[in-house]
Amino acid sequence: MDAVVVYESLWGNTAAVAAAIAEGLGEGAVAMPTSEATRDLVAGARIVVAGAPVHGMSLPTESSRESARAKPQGHERLAADLSHRSMRDWLTDLPRGPMLGAAFETKVRGPLGRGAARSIASTLEAHGVTLLDGPRGFTVHMKTSSSEHAALLADGELEAAREWGEALRDRANSRL
Ligand SMILES: Cc1cc2nc3c(=O)[nH]c(=O)nc-3n(C[C@H](O)[C@H](O)[C@H](O)COP(=O)(O)O)c2cc1C
Repeated sequence: MDAVVVYESLWGNTAAVAAAIAEGLGEGAVAMPTSEATRDLVAGARIVVAGAPVHGMSLPTESSRESARAKPQGHERLAADLSHRSMRDWLTDLPRGPMLGAAFETKVRGPLGRGAARSIASTLEAHGVTLLDGPRGFTVHMKTSSSEHAALLADGELEAAREWGEALRDRANSRL
């Protein structure tokens, strides 16, 4: 696999952003949740992009994930998907580079606290990944009456994610 976009996502918003980034990266790029992105699979990729929602101004923790369980989304009460590993846990298993990579987050507000993407980016770098761009944020609404997956995403964010994927591909290609 040429490029893998790995995500943690409770209500599908970060997952939808990851899919759009993979689309922008083009042929050979696949988006998948943390649990499917095994160490071997990641070690075999040339590009690894990883993203997570911001919880409590940081990467989600076991306790923030637990508190999300008590907040089903919308009128039909879409439950948070806690079936995959947290990004925080997945990062403990990261193989060493030489991959190229980037980190992103979904969040309601601007740059308060450390966020999620900066932590992901510094862990990627500490494992020998060369970053193709700085940490990138995509905006979601605080709440929605809809119980559809990815219903929190602000207008234009999927297009922005696809364009970011294209830009990452261009930067990776210039290193060939
Ligand atoms: C427990 C919890 C804490 C959160 N804390 C923050 C926060 O500190 N800042 C922020 O901008 N968004 C915060 N959010 C909103 C999440 O970023 C939002 O739910 C997420 O981006 C949705 O993506 P997902 O569907 O992929 O999980 C929080 C959400 C939850 C459930």
